[in-house]
Amino acid sequence: MRTFYITTPIYYVNDVPHLGHAYTTIVADVIARFKRLAGYQAFFLTGTDEHGDKIAQAASAAGEDPKQYADKISAAFRETWAKLQITNDYFIRTTDEDHKRAVRLFLQKIYEGGDIYFGEYGGSYCFGCERFYTEREMVNGKCPDHQRELTFIKEKNYFFRMSKYQGWLVNYIETHPEFIRPERYKNEVLAFLREPLEDLCISRPKSRLSWGIPLPFDDNYVTYVWFDALINYISGLGYPEGEGFKKFWPVANHLIAKDILKPHGIYWPIMLRAAGIEPYQHLNVHGYWSLERGKMSKSVGKVVRPLDLTTKYGLDGFRYFLLREMTFGLDSSFGEDGLVARINSDLANDLGNLLSRTLTMIERYLNGEPPLPLPPSSPLDQQVERTAAQTKAEVYSSMEGFAFNRALEAIWNLISIANRYIDSNKPWALAKTDRRRVEEVLFHTWEVLRILGLLLYPFMPESAAKIWRQLGIKKDLATACLEEDSVWGSLTPRGSIQKGESLFPRIRAEAVSVSISEALKRETQPKGPINLEEFQRLDLRVGEVIEAEGVVGSDRLIKLRVSLGKEERTVVAGLAKTYTPTELLGKKVILVANLKPTHLMGIESQGMILAAEGHDGRLAILVPDRDVEPGAQVR
Ligand code: MSP
Repeated sequence: MRTFYITTPIYYVNDVPHLGHAYTTIVADVIARFKRLAGYQAFFLTGTDEHGDKIAQAASAAGEDPKQYADKISAAFRETWAKLQITNDYFIRTTDEDHKRAVRLFLQKIYEGGDIYFGEYGGSYCFGCERFYTEREMVNGKCPDHQRELTFIKEKNYFFRMSKYQGWLVNYIETHPEFIRPERYKNEVLAFLREPLEDLCISRPKSRLSWGIPLPFDDNYVTYVWFDALINYISGLGYPEGEGFKKFWPVANHLIAKDILKPHGIYWPIMLRAAGIEPYQHLNVHGYWSLERGKMSKSVGKVVRPLDLTTKYGLDGFRYFLLREMTFGLDSSFGEDGLVARINSDLANDLGNLLSRTLTMIERYLNGEPPLPLPPSSPLDQQVERTAAQTKAEVYSSMEGFAFNRALEAIWNLISIANRYIDSNKPWALAKTDRRRVEEVLFHTWEVLRILGLLLYPFMPESAAKIWRQLGIKKDLATACLEEDSVWGSLTPRGSIQKGESLFPRIRAEAVSVSISEALKRETQPKGPINLEEFQRLDLRVGEVIEAEGVVGSDRLIKLRVSLGKEERTVVAGLAKTYTPTELLGKKVILVANLKPTHLMGIESQGMILAAEGHDGRLAILVPDRDVEPGAQVR
């Protein structure tokens, strides 16, 4: 059987889980589920990093001893992962006895090989980062991350001879182009390696820090940070003698964010080399999430708790959004409006509708019995079948390269083709005259949904299971096999359909963003006299509405495309209570053209349309009383 090994960083226990930790762990879960579905024996490891100054300080601030404190936060990580349906095979803690034993063995081996030496080091130290800073790295004599003064420390310590392996590592990376991916991070590591590598300090005197693992060759010292943490990736497999280590280490895939690229891209392969262990197979590096309205940082109280979001919007919507929105390797910004817009349009609208209309028609026209496979009898049937096969291939190759958003785009293309297939075939019109054709059409849509359940399972396990259940499929997705079960027309055991609650209830706009009419009201409060210059700062223009559609999930907003002659704008207007989109089409309106763009329901609105509000609350848009060309100035 083919094997696969995926790891996440082990998270520090000085903070409870937030959006960033959740993203990495969900990505690892999606990959692990996908590999298992594709027939691999996969091992998925995550855990907590519990030693060091930072943790000791956080514990003492909380008035607890470090172990007690670590127990509590480590448990919070485990509970969060269970609620996010993370299927890790093991959860490692650096305070586990097995891990400590593996660390000591690993250190002893390198020590005996002559790559650890005792020396003196003096330098500027940041207690926040737990590391020394070189002159070049400091900013105005301070740590650039924590903005605080560095402390000069001079002490005797143990050092790892990293410099000795620099040439080997450069050569290894250059001859294994996929070792660190995406490529930008490989290049970043190679850029680091153009400078001479310094040896790595791996110990702290016990007198200064006791919360660590004692060195096997000197009991007065404990090992420090990376020489403890990185080894989790092999101790978690039972290194050195464990079966798991033999089986899974050769296929090791690490998953990290760019913040810890250097230890994983440089220290770790060299440590492995010095200990006589083969390097990992791939280091997969993703970008950073920030919050739409600023940096995600504990110190400014701006963190996103994953469980708050899943309680509010559902787990699968959250998982879907994270994987759909971030291009693996690049940074992304997180906003609740965007999350809601995706849930409403991609999940409730596209996928949810495809399922509910298919089930309704099977219920109505076929007495709730899923149609048995029928051969294609029109080019449209063939197109659907072909697209399903192409989508599967596209998902396979995208997942290989960690391109989750590409995999999801391909899946959504299949969903939209299936929706269009129903629209073009109009089974409701055929129901009375051509039962055979109705069966053919509903077989094709039912079959697409069956395959969609398989392809979506790694991303949205609960919803995929609901899809299969509602389709009447009597098989557990957790035991399904992608290769066999995705064959078009395969006879997965089935019974009558089980129409249930809707897959993704729509989320109302009002729950999320300030409605535009309230914003408008605030704008129109009397504000006292203004002078002409102030008024002239307004860029008012005549615009022509060239497209108009309702905004999914909102009963107030309409999305308009407005032509200003030389350019076009997208405007989200709170007009839906008074106007239908069609009524607005072709109208000449007055647009505030120099208003700062704003986001409503995840859509960027680039201007505002002027309207008067009557006593009854109904709006009347302002229009020029004779025809003027779009773009004309309003003075
Ligand atoms: N304990 C070390 C890792 C040791 S691994 C041998 C550590 N822990 S951490 O708690 O700070 O976790 C860092 C990791 O959390 C990142 O590499 C990433 O996986 C995840 N993220 C934390 N914040 C993040 C974002 N804002 N965005 C994306 N991922 C982030 O470093």
